[in-house]
Amino acid sequence: MAFQHDLTWSDVTPRALFLNRRQLMQGLGAAALLAAPPARAAGPYSTDEAPNTLEEISGYNNYYEFGVGKQDPAANAGLLKTDPWTVKVDGMVDRPGDYALAELIDGLTVEERIYRFRCVEAWSMVVPWQGIQLSSLLDRLGVRPEAKFVAFETLIRPEEMPMQKTGLLDWPYREGLRLDEAMHPLTLLATGLYGQPLPNQNGAPLRLVVPWKYGFKSVKAIVRITLTDQMPQTTWNMIAAQEYGFYANVNPKVDHPRWSQASERRIGAGLFAGRQDTLMFNGYEDQVASLYAGMDLAVNY
Ligand code: MTE
Repeated sequence: MAFQHDLTWSDVTPRALFLNRRQLMQGLGAAALLAAPPARAAGPYSTDEAPNTLEEISGYNNYYEFGVGKQDPAANAGLLKTDPWTVKVDGMVDRPGDYALAELIDGLTVEERIYRFRCVEAWSMVVPWQGIQLSSLLDRLGVRPEAKFVAFETLIRPEEMPMQKTGLLDWPYREGLRLDEAMHPLTLLATGLYGQPLPNQNGAPLRLVVPWKYGFKSVKAIVRITLTDQMPQTTWNMIAAQEYGFYANVNPKVDHPRWSQASERRIGAGLFAGRQDTLMFNGYEDQVASLYAGMDLAVNY
């Protein structure tokens, strides 16, 4: 599809920041800097909102395998060895197996997607991801007709993920999607951000991104993908089903039992910026509302 490459993060990053970054990261000279592309309109999959900085995106994280504080993942995730990396594919699929990551995604198109990201805790960011559409991988793997859901699991390796030595969560971290959600073109398996491999704290080497759902759905460091006809067990739902549903669609009209979901705090916006309104399906309503036609979203939260 032609529009996939219409917009890159450099087009929507404030120009001064973009030039800085290019200077820093690529050491380009003045002539190359003058040739920086002009701003363009966003394609249908990417927002034209300004992305957060790499420092914000990789410095303020949730990743309980490395601690419960927002700075803990950045401090501790360096321990994790992400190469070699094997992903087990099993269940109702034509080509199950233990795939080396490179083999799993070899030949699939890596796309840039600038997505809003909304955590259930009511903070948000804008992230320039690189990744493959999950649908392209599932098509290649061959989903059997009886499959209705996709389940994902994070690596278990307590030597490198220190909190796994505790009972903080029922490890591994696990998540799942309905098959039609998994096949939606917005659903991404991210391999990078800002044009670099994913930082470990953001879920290297492979993490899910489902931009219309709360961030806890976007499971990090994926080592298992299972096609199933049963709704999968999911980590936060197992801990507190009344607070965290399976669907977890961003919805300003359905509050968390302990706080409002009507507004959010954009990370990096500054002390005086104030909160901004949370958008239905995190702003992806036009693309995804039809997936939930006829469902009561207050019941299926
Ligand atoms: N995946 C694993 N394996 N462990 C986690 O603790 N936290 C989730 C999700 N994926 C989590 C995880 C939550 S609560 C959020 S909000 C996002 O990751 C945070 O992603 P980010 O740190 O890249 O912003």
